[in-house]
Order: sequence, then C-alpha cells, then structure tokens
Amino acid sequence: MSWVKHYHDDHMAVMRLLAKLEGNIKEIEMGEKRTHLNLELEEFARVIREVIIPHFKHEETGIYARIAEVSEEERDFINRMLEEHRRLYVAFEDYLSAVDSLDEAKLAAAGKIIIDILAKHIKKEELVIPKIAAKLDIS
Ligand SMILES: [Fe+2]
Ligand SMILES: [Fe+2]
Repeated sequence: MSWVKHYHDDHMAVMRLLAKLEGNIKEIEMGEKRTHLNLELEEFARVIREVIIPHFKHEETGIYARIAEVSEEERDFINRMLEEHRRLYVAFEDYLSAVDSLDEAKLAAAGKIIIDILAKHIKKEELVIPKIAAKLDIS
C-alpha cells in the first residue's frame, strides 16, 4: 500500500473516532453514566498511543521533512502543521492522564481541543499533501 493511501486510511479512521468522541463528550456533559462510555474513551486513548502519535512521528521524519525542502511556501505550511502537532501532543497528554485519573472535566476539555485542532489538521493534509507528493513524484 502506498504511504499516501496508508495516511488516508488513518485519517478517515480517526475522523470517525473524533465524531464518536464528540458524542461521548456530550454524554459526559449531560451527566450520562453508561458502561460503553468508559470503554470508548479508553479505546480512543489506545488509538492516540498506538496510531495517532506514531502517525505524527512518521510524518515529521518522512513526508513533512521532504515537503519542507521544496520551497519557502511549503516550509511555512509544514511549520504550521508542526505547530499543530505540538499543540496536539499537549492535548493528548492531558487526555491520556484524564482517562487514567477518570477526571471527566479535564477529559472533556482536552477532547474538545483534540477534536477542534485535529479535524482541521487532517482536512488540510488531505487537501494539500497528496498534491505536493504527486508533484514530487513520491506518492
Ligand atoms: Fe499531521
Ligand atoms: Fe496525518
């Protein structure tokens, strides 16, 4: 499988999970106590550790580094994307520690930041990166 396709599959899977997380946060805020809730929140914590963080690292050392070399404009784009990764790493830490300590308020706050930044981040990658990769002939 090409790496563009691999990234795309990760992105779509994460977008579906973000929609689910958004629903779960609404349930927390409405005071719902249902057994599926904790399982789904833990499942998202596992996905952060095992899928999203490795995906970010892979982008940073691979495609991002390649794109940043192309031109000034591309370097600026990648710097903005890296800044979003940095903000997301902080929110991931908060989310993971909130799941461990069952701190629902912290979990909801971190989850909202993740949903807000990550959904837009993925849309930008889907829009821009395949085009640049095709231009560089590295897809
Ligand atoms: Fe990224
Ligand atoms: Fe990505």
